Amino acid sequence: MTTDPLLQPYQLKHLTLKNRVMSTSHEPAYSEDGMPKERYRLYHAEKAKGGMALTMTAGSAIVSRDSPAAFGNLQAYRDEIVPWLRELADSCHEHDCKVMIQLTHLGRRTGWNKADWLPVLAPSSVREPAHRAFPKVMEDWDIERIVADYASAAQRMKAAGLDGIEFEAYGHLMDGFWSPATNFRDDEFGGSLDNRLRFTFLVLDAVRKAAGEDFVVGIRMVADEDFDKGLSKEEGIEIARRLAASGKVDFLNIIRGTIETDAALTKVIPVTGMRSSPHLDFAGEVRAATKFPVFHAARIQDVATARHAIASGKLDMVGMTRAHIADPHIMKKMMEGREHEIRPCVGATYCLDRIYEGGEALCIHNAATGREATIPHVIALASTVRRIVVVGAGPAGLEAARVAAAEGHSVTVLEAADRAGGQILLAAQNPRRKELVGIVDWRLAELERLGAEIRYNVWAEAGDVLALEPDVVVIATGGLPQNPPLEAGGDLVVSSWDIVSGAVKPAESVLLYDDNGGHQGMTAAEMVANSGARLELVSPERFFAPEMGGMNHVPYMRAFHEKGVRVTINTRLKSVRRDGNQLVATVSSDFADGWREERSVDQVIVEHGTMANDELYHALKPLSRNKGAVDYEALVGEGAVFPARQQAGTFTLFRIGDAVASRNIHAAIYDGIRFTLRI
Ligand SMILES: Cc1cc2nc3c(=O)[nH]c(=O)nc-3n(C[C@H](O)[C@H](O)[C@H](O)COP(=O)(O)O)c2cc1C
Ligand code: SF4
Repeated sequence: MTTDPLLQPYQLKHLTLKNRVMSTSHEPAYSEDGMPKERYRLYHAEKAKGGMALTMTAGSAIVSRDSPAAFGNLQAYRDEIVPWLRELADSCHEHDCKVMIQLTHLGRRTGWNKADWLPVLAPSSVREPAHRAFPKVMEDWDIERIVADYASAAQRMKAAGLDGIEFEAYGHLMDGFWSPATNFRDDEFGGSLDNRLRFTFLVLDAVRKAAGEDFVVGIRMVADEDFDKGLSKEEGIEIARRLAASGKVDFLNIIRGTIETDAALTKVIPVTGMRSSPHLDFAGEVRAATKFPVFHAARIQDVATARHAIASGKLDMVGMTRAHIADPHIMKKMMEGREHEIRPCVGATYCLDRIYEGGEALCIHNAATGREATIPHVIALASTVRRIVVVGAGPAGLEAARVAAAEGHSVTVLEAADRAGGQILLAAQNPRRKELVGIVDWRLAELERLGAEIRYNVWAEAGDVLALEPDVVVIATGGLPQNPPLEAGGDLVVSSWDIVSGAVKPAESVLLYDDNGGHQGMTAAEMVANSGARLELVSPERFFAPEMGGMNHVPYMRAFHEKGVRVTINTRLKSVRRDGNQLVATVSSDFADGWREERSVDQVIVEHGTMANDELYHALKPLSRNKGAVDYEALVGEGAVFPARQQAGTFTLFRIGDAVASRNIHAAIYDGIRFTLRI
């Protein structure tokens, strides 16, 4: 019998949760037509297989038509959802993982120009900055209608065989009534706390009537909005007390903060470089004040912190949500004494940023997440052992080597530098993002465990590779920084790499031109700003760094404001010339022909992605069996991925990551696993 606090079962009403770890609700935007189809099901089933006790599905499944999906939300107001959810629940129940769903009306946190073009509504007409809708003030018939919608959605969830539901009450409609910042009503739904809670209790009564007393109903609620005009901690805890005492809810899932801007959202869901478990003590305070089951998640990334959360009595169930996006098998690894094999969540928040940009949630360094139908989380041994040579130990090469080694192949990695990591080492030069090194360290540990060899300080040429008599050669040599197209002065500029690596020090006055639009330029800009330089950041885009999501934008922008960085958008760098000991940058406009301005600075830094470092690939290409060719139809479907183009070739050759073209860490890692699985 284990004494590990995380592995103790938890009795929630009639449900026995087999351990203390859950995934809190999050919308991965894997829905199809608003339904949780195969992709959605496999995603949750993987966590269930991985040993988790409870998965809270959906992110804010919507109960009403006039709450159009903001990021692929499930449509709980449609009967068609029932069989899909039943299949999902069955797949998780097979592994004794309980399944619940979060239900909501998004209120003002969505847009009117979507789905059925119905007006967005809220208790009062207060605009949510993030979604920009000016909401209609709810009328009596809206309240009646939406209360009934909650009840029928709850009924559908019960019919689907789910173990329970929770209501979303932070930044959505329900808590919109609670907060003095968003409720200015003078009817029986505004003013006193009793009035502000009236809508919530109408919903709870209707849901209990529809779904019964035995169905588990919880609430994910803000208990302190943590800003001067918002819901105070005192009122928040009082709401928690009243809900607990009402007998109408079975658990409280505690949130602190607001989500109406990206900056506020990062306090609720901190990104890399921000504090770990910032609201754990607060959730513990709510538990102490209510003596009621309390769940909570906010950057509890590692098992040790999760264990502390339970052992110290702060929580009953601990949410490790992004941690499970990075590794759905955390609990299984823990129970099997393989804690050291857990793939760490590095807080990059690529997952969440993607859904706000209209994409689906993908983990920066686990390409299998959300792709369970095609990419396994656990790699099976190959039937034939091959000799694999991987050139380059950046993210793409390390991933290819890891996958090949896990398949049981004999793997040698040749790396030109004296350390593995490639461009991740550059990204991690920003002290705020140093956790990214976890992507490298985890792979190095896996390679060691799996018996792969890495040779450092080897600038591999074709002969070095051939001497190893490979069956497969993987070129993961990355790229080198390149200049943007300039009319003149390419020799006068330095690259973002020069700055980030420390090879060139930031000067006193700097113009940084970024037309790549991702972390690379922003990292350099943040480091320049922090050096005390006077910086102007110039971008040709309508808004800068468009390849980066809103949450990752926050800490950069904070640094830019604090350090007085001037941001200039819609402006293109044309040329650079020397003038005495200064550089003169000429900038132009895509919009106004002939518009020009000049900036006199000490230093011009440019970020324009990388050029493939592909010499070795081209040297090996004529000797390979497939001459480097890849059948893309087969790659995304079935069949032989590397066509035989000459019988004389003795090895298969392919290249991955930035050795093909300038992309990002996820693309490199996805290449690394999906090509290697098909050798
Ligand atoms: C892709 C993604 C989507 C999310 N969507 C929701 C949501 O719809 N409703 C919700 O209550 N929380 C949502 N969250 C927040 C998570 O439930 C959780 O609170 C957050 O990720 C912090 O916990 P963690 O640090 O363990 O990841 C989302 C998180 C992610 C990563
Ligand atoms: S993208 Fe980053 S934050 Fe999201 S799960 Fe992966 S490692 Fe964690």
